[in-house]
Amino acid sequence: MTRKIIIDCDPGQDDAVALFLALASSEELDLLGITAVCGNVPLELTQRNARQMCDIAGRQDVPVYAGCEKPMLRPLRTAEMIHGETGINGIDVIDPETPLQSAHAVDFIIETLLDADDASIILVPTGPLTNIGTAIDREPGILPKIEQIVLMGGAMREGGNRTPSAEFNILVDPDAADNVFRCGRPIVQMGLDVTHQVLSTRDRVGRIAALGNPVADATAGMLSFFDRYDTKKYASKGAPLHDPCTIAWLIRPELFEGKDCNVSIETQSELTLGHTAVDFWHVTERPVNVHWVYSVDAGGFYDLLTERLARFGD
Ligand code: BDR
Ligand code: CA
Repeated sequence: MTRKIIIDCDPGQDDAVALFLALASSEELDLLGITAVCGNVPLELTQRNARQMCDIAGRQDVPVYAGCEKPMLRPLRTAEMIHGETGINGIDVIDPETPLQSAHAVDFIIETLLDADDASIILVPTGPLTNIGTAIDREPGILPKIEQIVLMGGAMREGGNRTPSAEFNILVDPDAADNVFRCGRPIVQMGLDVTHQVLSTRDRVGRIAALGNPVADATAGMLSFFDRYDTKKYASKGAPLHDPCTIAWLIRPELFEGKDCNVSIETQSELTLGHTAVDFWHVTERPVNVHWVYSVDAGGFYDLLTERLARFGD
């Protein structure tokens, strides 16, 4: 069965790979639209980068919308030190042919959901949750239409990657994240505990580069850049490939292991702002709101990614 999804992203090299993986998987996923949000780099660049990925994949037909240019209540923090000044350093930037739709991303999300059957659309956020949190705030009537939210963000055992307590996507807009985590719809969460297992080692990137099609070349180029900063930071054999875990979970959930629990967002403390308090051992009465994913078959993940990227050469 094909499931309808909207990817809400801030490309970002790893967001870009998530887009490629979804675009390669049309038997499983019907991508209704891509909504861009500010995050890794400002909105002006994230929306352009999303459109560039559609160009590279030969999918100029996919509608791309620009959303919020700053978090709900706070100034924007970006991550050029990881992603480079374009957000997609590692490949050349082009002026994409894929058009930018005139509607605001939040309006697109609201209208698409209101028109849909109950529990029929999956939201896949891979950036700060500003667009989704704003949509929920503005039109709570969209909630019954959401089948589930499969997102990248947060951390428990791994600790934060932007502060000692917080992962980047949640830290950038903790107020939007709080809206989303309290919304009552099922959430599948890919935090750093799982994404830090998905390392883009030289060997894995080499297998992608060897595919020799434009999407694989772009992926290998972006992942090679992404590697420089993260391998030093984590002293690992490759950079974690965070965002595509969401799409891989939708295609092959059996690659992952997780547990249902409550996750709550810290929105007040200066010290631990954006922390995801994961009640892994059910030590509170707080209701289950998340399927917390904590482990993955990383080899199986890269086999899937490589097999799907090979399709762009057909
Ligand atoms: C998340 O932050 C961004 O830098 C990545 O694109 C990913 O979504 C990882 O913390
Ligand atoms: Ca991202």
